Amino acid sequence: MRTGSIRLAGGALEDNVSLTPIGGPRRKITSATLREKKLHRDSITCLTAYDYATARLVDEAGIDVVLVGDSLAMTMLGYDNTLSVTVDEMLHHVRAVHRGVKDAWLVADMPYGSYHETVEDAVHNAARFVKEGGVEAVKMEGGEKRVDVIRRVIDAEIPVAGHIGLTPQSVNMMGGYKVQGKTLQAIEQLMRDAVALDRAGVACIYLEGIPREVATMITAEVETPTIGIGAGPDCDGQVLVFHDLVNLTFNPPAKFVRRYGDASALISQAVEAFKSDVARGQFPSDAESYHLPKDTQVALETVLQRKRAMQR
Ligand code: KIV
Repeated sequence: MRTGSIRLAGGALEDNVSLTPIGGPRRKITSATLREKKLHRDSITCLTAYDYATARLVDEAGIDVVLVGDSLAMTMLGYDNTLSVTVDEMLHHVRAVHRGVKDAWLVADMPYGSYHETVEDAVHNAARFVKEGGVEAVKMEGGEKRVDVIRRVIDAEIPVAGHIGLTPQSVNMMGGYKVQGKTLQAIEQLMRDAVALDRAGVACIYLEGIPREVATMITAEVETPTIGIGAGPDCDGQVLVFHDLVNLTFNPPAKFVRRYGDASALISQAVEAFKSDVARGQFPSDAESYHLPKDTQVALETVLQRKRAMQR
């Protein structure tokens, strides 16, 4: 099958996808890199990716961590929330992302229900992400109350990324997507959650939807690198959902989102221009068409002339 991108078969490399990583060669990012970065106060960058093309662009731009978030339930699959996405649906995307990532540390979300029943289930599902998806870590939401299952997954040699604060898989328990950690009691619980994850040996802790002041305290308290989303600038790193970054979400952005591009406008303009060109007979042009070799064209002309003569 021909596409407009790189053709490996047939020799020619078309030049619309770069093979050269932007910014030159980088070393492979691991969980140790994240710890080094925390020590040196060097900010960690993380973006979500859900398919080969975006994974490749994010990786080649030098982002440290690529997260196949269960946010793909909304961004890619059009669900209302993250709750219904399955391990198999996640793995379909994880495998595509894995093929596009070379240097970044690759993490995938364990979806709701895949680690909430038995520990055996949790370890089995986490191992599927490693064996079938090629991830280097799995992300699991929850603090103190999930720490036993998280330990068992780590014991099975699978690095875990923690995730506390506004944890979308708890949307029904939280009564909506609300900023967490706004009372003294809630702050205390969040600190206990962070310390429990730190002691369990998670590779990093995602802090979502909490006041800046609380994220700052947690980041100072734990040795584990923290990666914030809606948690202020004092975390060890920052993550955004790719679709938020480039305006592909069809909803007004949350307060913490900064749009760095407008893929929605770009795609709409391209689609409308294609539609208009086809309607006006302006696409494809002769230069965008294949032509017969000269000798075949001459032979064909002769055949057609003979046919026309016979019809007269
Ligand atoms: O699912 C996701 O994309 C996430 C990030 C927002 C941290 O969990």
